[in-house]
Amino acid sequence: MSSVDMETIVSLCKRRGFIFQSSEIYGGAGGCWDYGPLGVELKRNVKEAWWKAMVHDRDDVVGLDASILMNPQVWVASGHVQQFSDPLVDCKACKNRFRADHLKETKCPDCGGELTEPRMFNLMFKTFMGPVENDAAVVYLRPETAQGIFVNFQNVMSTSRRKLPLGIAQVGKSFRNEITTGNFIFRSREFEQMEMEYFVKPGTDDHWFQHWLEQRFNWYVKLGIRKDNLRLRPHEKEELAHYAKGCYDVEYLFPMGWSELEGIANRGSYDLEQHSKFSGKDLSVFEEESKERFVPYVIEPSAGVDRSVLAFLLDSYHEEVVEKEKRVVLRLHPALAPIKAAVLPLSRNEKLVPMVTQVHASIRGCFMTQYDDSQSIGRRYRRQDEVGTPYCVTIDFQSLEDKQVTIRDRDSLHQIRIPTDVLRATLLAKLAGEDFDVLPPGGSLVSSAKS
Ligand code: GAP
Repeated sequence: MSSVDMETIVSLCKRRGFIFQSSEIYGGAGGCWDYGPLGVELKRNVKEAWWKAMVHDRDDVVGLDASILMNPQVWVASGHVQQFSDPLVDCKACKNRFRADHLKETKCPDCGGELTEPRMFNLMFKTFMGPVENDAAVVYLRPETAQGIFVNFQNVMSTSRRKLPLGIAQVGKSFRNEITTGNFIFRSREFEQMEMEYFVKPGTDDHWFQHWLEQRFNWYVKLGIRKDNLRLRPHEKEELAHYAKGCYDVEYLFPMGWSELEGIANRGSYDLEQHSKFSGKDLSVFEEESKERFVPYVIEPSAGVDRSVLAFLLDSYHEEVVEKEKRVVLRLHPALAPIKAAVLPLSRNEKLVPMVTQVHASIRGCFMTQYDDSQSIGRRYRRQDEVGTPYCVTIDFQSLEDKQVTIRDRDSLHQIRIPTDVLRATLLAKLAGEDFDVLPPGGSLVSSAKS
């Protein structure tokens, strides 16, 4: 299990500007969260890492950004209007509401009162499109990004001049009026998804299903999540949607136990068939080689951005004692770290300013940096450790003489001293995975002492 409890992460996130309660000064908005200056960088990095692995690094996947508001018929065709519901019970005494399928007892868990019979509650948020607020104007905030992909399948297929297998990837907000939110950003009412629908010829679907199970599990591992904290769990028969041929969850060992990070499903041809039926448009494809016409099957890896952010925070959190003091460090993968390098002058002495400005200018623009000259150098190192900054660059009085700066490694605490003119290339190499102790021309190991 991640070695840290949820309260510690919630408190770090608030204190250091990763994540705040939404509308906090008004008492909050249930199940909604705001990402602060560091949180927004971390979240963007998670989405970029996903986009790179799913779109940029592949020849068989393209991107899409569909609108959140769609024709309401989409949600009739997809089954969400009829079926996207949870069973809900009310306490007759205290009036609190619960999901019937989450309750272990038959009485109200808050006051012991009697509960109503379960009734179905649709999780889609409704609003009105246009100036008239009547039934004909009802539209929904999308509860998943996937349907925007299915309804654009024909557009993308014909304009991108691709053959099957073809994946369409999308990242964006989704909304669910969850009855029970909780566990910080794990279950919220407004969240982001990273979804990809991979369209294949029927008969090749089992092969691609296996392919995506491996790819998606390994994505988390490559970005630093410990294998022991990850597992692939097959869905039981009764958990499967009636159309799904198979489904696995990538689960992470969160402080509340194993819980879903991502679902990977073989959805068969259900979605395209449904949209064909309701729109009247033929969504089959013709394969030149075999002269066959068929409706493609779909393999869907569907991940949550916020849950991934939470797993990366939990898994990277470490506490250790360095020189008799507690050090908190987020060992985030460099690709995810909000700040890649901090520039720290040893003191605020004005003699250092021109060189510090020059050094900072030489690396900003390549990646996210932060300049910090307040408090002691030790405290500044600790602050950067706590937010996961992989490298700190220190400029001291000796730097004015020898035109060299010191780089400190967050994880090993080793320090190297290198000429300023190779700083940018050195940092880029280390961020790309080069061993920290590999020295550039003119560089030297300062110390391997912990500080
Ligand atoms: N298109 C398939 C689909 O939406 P899902 O299992 O309902 O499948 C996919 O959602 C992922 O979206 C989940 O694995 C989870 O990471 C994320 N997710 C779903 N509901 C969420 C919520 N209320 N809060 C945060 N993330 C959520």
